[in-house]
Amino acid sequence: MRPVLGIESSCDELAAAVVRGREILASVVHGQGDVHAPYGGVVPELASRDHARWVSQVVEAALDEAGVAPGELEGVAVTAGPGLVGSLLVGLCFAKAFAARFALPLVGVHHVAGHLASAELADPELAPPYVGLVVSGGHTALYRIEADAPPALLGETRDDAVGEAFDKVAKLLGLPYPGGPALARAAEAGNEAAIAFPRPMRAGLDFSYSGLKTAVALEVERRRGPGGALAPGDLADVAASFQAAATDALVTKARRALENEGLGRLAVVGGVAANQRLRARVAAAAREDGFRAVFPPLALCTDNAAMIAAAGARRLARGERDDAALGAFARAPVGA
Ligand code: KG4
Ligand code: ZN
Repeated sequence: MRPVLGIESSCDELAAAVVRGREILASVVHGQGDVHAPYGGVVPELASRDHARWVSQVVEAALDEAGVAPGELEGVAVTAGPGLVGSLLVGLCFAKAFAARFALPLVGVHHVAGHLASAELADPELAPPYVGLVVSGGHTALYRIEADAPPALLGETRDDAVGEAFDKVAKLLGLPYPGGPALARAAEAGNEAAIAFPRPMRAGLDFSYSGLKTAVALEVERRRGPGGALAPGDLADVAASFQAAATDALVTKARRALENEGLGRLAVVGGVAANQRLRARVAAAAREDGFRAVFPPLALCTDNAAMIAAAGARRLARGERDDAALGAFARAPVGA
């Protein structure tokens, strides 16, 4: 089995990885925290410019670390979408040129298919069928995963993604970008039972986070001191109570999906799968209900190219190929 090169540039991380089967030979991630921190969020134009500056060095670093020459590769897998089109185009153009230069097959990968592939990459015993819960800055969705079919959507958010809610609430609390990890850290000192925020529950398997976000904003306004700032104890309580409400909704819907589908395995993937409270609550639910829960290690939860290489390797193994006409897309369902 020959290794696959993966390239990911859909948002504010430029990543390259070399993966052979389930073995990650190298995985390099070049983040852009410093570029966007002054603006409190990702600035698309700055993201694509920084990607263009780094892409060849990051790919070279991954190949060097893996000790793999381009000619030894099975093919090149690159994120085609969804994401910021300018950012995607940098990875896509590089991948096309690289594939052409070394006469390698090229495949485009859906970013969410990449996140879903991270679970099987991390856990050799995880085999379909299972339920995949994707929780990231752009996605909050449940899928039924089968061996020979595209992921089947069971439910998704009607408005904000859960990671986006973490980021927005963090900004509201004046926490530094990127907000999700900062909010989780702030929550450690708080009491999650301090404020009974509404659990964003819709019927069925869909999610909604805009109501929770509004409830947090109102609570923050209510607690602001004369200078406009929150007392540290209040900030920690708001953070912990928000985190509890946001993650409880995920656990409830994941349990419901497993029950509806009659399945006993759950994979939780995407940036928010790094959240320790979510991990603990899913693990507790797994013990109670008797299902198996798989979380990739932290480095495979947030955006990386190993997951793109793993998802691309499957397309290559099925004989699928893309050509130089492969375009970037801002949005599209994962099975499309
Ligand atoms: O998968 P990812 O790296 O990029 C997207 O595809 O969106 O996910 C990034 C999201 C961000 O919203 C970030 O705030 C959130 O994951 N995140 C977390 C944690 N670590 C990252 N949210 C909550 N707790 C964390 N520990
Ligand atoms: Zn992602």
